Amino acid sequence: MKLAQLIEAKELFSGPDMDWVHFFVDAQQKVLTRLNRKYGHPACGRHRCTFSSKAVVIKVPLNQGGVAANSREYQLWKEQVAQGYSDPREIRYSRSRIIYVHDLPLLVMQKLDIARSYEQGPMPDWAGWVDCGQVGKDKRGNWRAYDFA
Ligand SMILES: Nc1ncnc2c1ncn2[C@@H]1O[C@H](COP(=O)(O)OP(=O)(O)OP(=O)(O)O)[C@@H](O)[C@H]1O
Ligand SMILES: [Mg+2]
Repeated sequence: MKLAQLIEAKELFSGPDMDWVHFFVDAQQKVLTRLNRKYGHPACGRHRCTFSSKAVVIKVPLNQGGVAANSREYQLWKEQVAQGYSDPREIRYSRSRIIYVHDLPLLVMQKLDIARSYEQGPMPDWAGWVDCGQVGKDKRGNWRAYDFA
């Protein structure tokens, strides 16, 4: 079975076969090394290391929580787009898509201006619902959440 399918089946870290864990770590190292060469140092949280390019960020899962977070953030954004964003009380998610590199699911997300968010004018009420207020402004000046899984 491919790494991507194992991740999907959530069997990667619970299965008896440790080879798959090695496979995951190996893929992770290759991806981190490649992106580090191209984009420099990432900003890392508990679940993902995030590399920054001009217009987007790329989130590399560090563990199963990172795989789940990438998948959930993509799903939430997709559902919000399908429904159409109209209620200003609702959290506004960042645009994203999943790409597979060395079979590892990476989240490519629109880059937000997150520096000194509190100085960029009043935050929307929904920012309080986002863990640690992880919000920023997109190019058009709209507030969006960037860590909401
Ligand atoms: N869309 C974005 N635009 C700009 N910077 C971002 C974006 N997404 C993430 N970052 C930066 O990358 C860091 C790590 O990403 P993120 O918070 O998504 O990882 P995480 O592992 O889920 O974090 P946590 O420990 O908060 O759960 C963030 O703290 C932030 O500095
Ligand atoms: Mg975070």
